[in-house]
Amino acid sequence: MTIGIIGAMVEEITPLLARFGTYKEHKIGSNIYYEITRNNHRIFVAYSKIGKVHAALSASVMILKFGCEQIIFSGVAGGLSADLKVGDLVLGSKLCQYDVDISAFGHPLGFIPESKLYIESSPTLNDIAKKIAKAQGIALKEGIIASGDSFIANTEKKRWIMEQFNAIAVEMEGAAVAVVCDACKIPFCILRSISDSADGSADINFDEFLESSAKRSADFVLSMCEHI
Ligand code: ADE
Repeated sequence: MTIGIIGAMVEEITPLLARFGTYKEHKIGSNIYYEITRNNHRIFVAYSKIGKVHAALSASVMILKFGCEQIIFSGVAGGLSADLKVGDLVLGSKLCQYDVDISAFGHPLGFIPESKLYIESSPTLNDIAKKIAKAQGIALKEGIIASGDSFIANTEKKRWIMEQFNAIAVEMEGAAVAVVCDACKIPFCILRSISDSADGSADINFDEFLESSAKRSADFVLSMCEHI
């Protein structure tokens, strides 16, 4: 099996590379893809850089250039649900782009013709995540994750995303990975750990908790790799 693991920021993949130890490097575009051989699997790890376009590029390279058959995203997110706190792990059941708006032509917010408003992640990968969470006594929260090219640090905007899209967490890449994987028929899974609550303190909390929350997500994804 060839597996791709994507983070957005270097902090989101550093714990993975530290654990994997040895790897081969491939430079494509302006990203480095780290190739690891482990338990009969080839694993490609990269940080895409922030945002949907960068994430779509990395997912495309992993699938079309390296032949990845499954993609896992690991990183941090802003919590929208009141019951999510810093460090909690979130599994994206479906992904949507909250910043798509062609409602001027009568389309629902988030919808692009010939695409989907919500893209479902892989039930098989999600089941693996849920089994691991159960075995490790982790309260993994599953729900809709909304993606867009803004860092949300505003209670009104946060509430709007929650209400419009029924999302429990917000980030800047998951839906882009979902679009690419859905188009290429590649199973994917979006795993995030909460770094902030997307409110007026989000920037300060993000800086404080990025590293610890990114590690929580990466450690969990490493456990998933053992079960694929
Ligand atoms: N990733 C982590 N926190 C976020 C936030 N508040 N908005 C967008 N992406 C995030």
